Amino acid sequence: TADPDLAGRHVVISAGGTREPLDPVRYLGNRSSGKQGYALARTAVARGARVTLIAANTGLPDPAGADVVTAGSAEQLREQVVKAAADADVVVMAAAVADFRPAAYASSKIKKKDDAEPEPLALVRNPDILAEVAAHRARPGQLVVGFGAETDDVLANGRAKLARKGCDLLVVNEVGEAKAFGTEENEAVVLGADGSETHIPYGPKEALADRVWDLVAARLA
Ligand code: C5P
Repeated sequence: TADPDLAGRHVVISAGGTREPLDPVRYLGNRSSGKQGYALARTAVARGARVTLIAANTGLPDPAGADVVTAGSAEQLREQVVKAAADADVVVMAAAVADFRPAAYASSKIKKKDDAEPEPLALVRNPDILAEVAAHRARPGQLVVGFGAETDDVLANGRAKLARKGCDLLVVNEVGEAKAFGTEENEAVVLGADGSETHIPYGPKEALADRVWDLVAARLA
């Protein structure tokens, strides 16, 4: 069994990907599986934490020992994260949150009109939950961890994102090849607001999760 270095700590983890409804049958979504967030939840339970997992459209089995709540859209995810964060030592935003949502929700199914061209789809911005949680810490010393996917200039773009979001740690994935989305394995560099840079080699998402908790535990101590 793992060292219970998160005992007595409440950690809140968001996982999966949001769906932004267009009408009762359609949504804008993304390919996030939720596997990395669930691996974070399982490993945090193993290290003694009280875990609240906020799951967005994952379809994965609930991790044993975690309190699981569900959220569909970014707005619903925000509500659950802000509520749970009020009592959290650590907030980890592993969910892929839609940056934009449809400007309007049609309460009945949008129909195609014979021969007519489709209407353009108007979008509005979603709130940045990570930036909001980081800017309004619910308790002193609360740690906020974000995830970011980058295709190029991983370190420079990651540093800029860390600063923009105001979080303590940013786990940056290089996307492309067989990494990140939907796979069992992952590789990342974790950037710290303290200037630290920790490379986590390619391996199971559980192993990456444990390395993230090592960095978190060192900062809680
Ligand atoms: O800006 P970008 O989407 O790359 O940032 C990713 C990080 O920000 C993830 O931790 C994600 O959970 C979080 N995020 C958020 N709210 C948004 C968009 C992203 O909390 N609207």
